[in-house]
Amino acid sequence: MANPASSSQIPEVVLGSSTGPKSMPVLAFGTAANNLQPIQLKTAVIEAIKLGYRHFDTAAVYGSEQPLGEAIKEALKLGLVASRDQLFITSKLWSNDAHPHLVIPALKKSLENLQLEYLDLYLIHWPISAKPGKFVFPLVDVMPMDFKGVWAAMEESQRLGLTKSIGVSNFTCKKIETLLSHATIPPSVNQVEMSPFWQQKKLRDFCKANGIVVTAFSPLGAKGTSWGSNHVMESKVLQDIAEARGKTVAQCVGTSTWAGLY
Ligand SMILES: NC(=O)c1ccc[n+]([C@@H]2O[C@H](COP(=O)([O-])OP(=O)(O)OC[C@H]3O[C@@H](n4cnc5c(N)ncnc54)[C@H](OP(=O)(O)O)[C@@H]3O)[C@@H](O)[C@H]2O)c1
Repeated sequence: MANPASSSQIPEVVLGSSTGPKSMPVLAFGTAANNLQPIQLKTAVIEAIKLGYRHFDTAAVYGSEQPLGEAIKEALKLGLVASRDQLFITSKLWSNDAHPHLVIPALKKSLENLQLEYLDLYLIHWPISAKPGKFVFPLVDVMPMDFKGVWAAMEESQRLGLTKSIGVSNFTCKKIETLLSHATIPPSVNQVEMSPFWQQKKLRDFCKANGIVVTAFSPLGAKGTSWGSNHVMESKVLQDIAEARGKTVAQCVGTSTWAGLY
């Protein structure tokens, strides 16, 4: 967890097509932690709130919505935050539910898990659908997504007030282009893997030109996972930069990777 020092020091960005005036803190606390018990995750979130984090990233498939919801309830009870609207909560639609008629029920289930009345941001987790039913990871029984129908349901969820903004994750320029060709509410955010070793320049330029904020997952390189690497955390260049500034590599990468999740 990179220490943001204080919530007042975390810059915020206004999301183009969001409902309401609220902006998104660019530093977020990720909750996809397979090796943590729910009570450990709840404690970690409460500690993160004490450190100043206000933006939390979860997903239906992570199994972290319930402990995050418990932590938010506790933080409100303890007075760590004055009201729910001081927090920015992102969750995501999993592929088994990425079918037009399942989007709103899935979002309502996420809200029930989180004990919240609305999300700040709801993302399509991956640009692929899977047979409805039990979540299986890695995905089986995959099929192309009905982008038009799924996005229309995402738009409806924003109109209903179930989420303040909507977006996508792991979408290429081409897939966003398809989506924009029929969207009435354009995506506010595209959350993708991005780090000093995977800078996504073409995608960032495309999103910037279309008013879409790019958020980075795994900005520290997801070391210790089957798909990540130690490249970021063990980079000599980044270590030298960190040493010169009296910071850690995580702090340097965190503050230079725009809109990052840790
Ligand atoms: N949309 C998507 O498809 C998607 C995919 C992946 C992730 N995400 C989101 O992005 C979040 C972050 O992803 P990630 O865990 O893969 O990110 P990450 O950038 O790889 O950061 C986590 C890793 O960095 C280390 N770390 C964290 N803070 C550190 C610090 N201050 N100093 C040194 N090391 C530090 C952790 O090590 P230790 O465990 O040893 O502390 C862990 O290995 C997830 O929780 C999730 O919310 C989204």
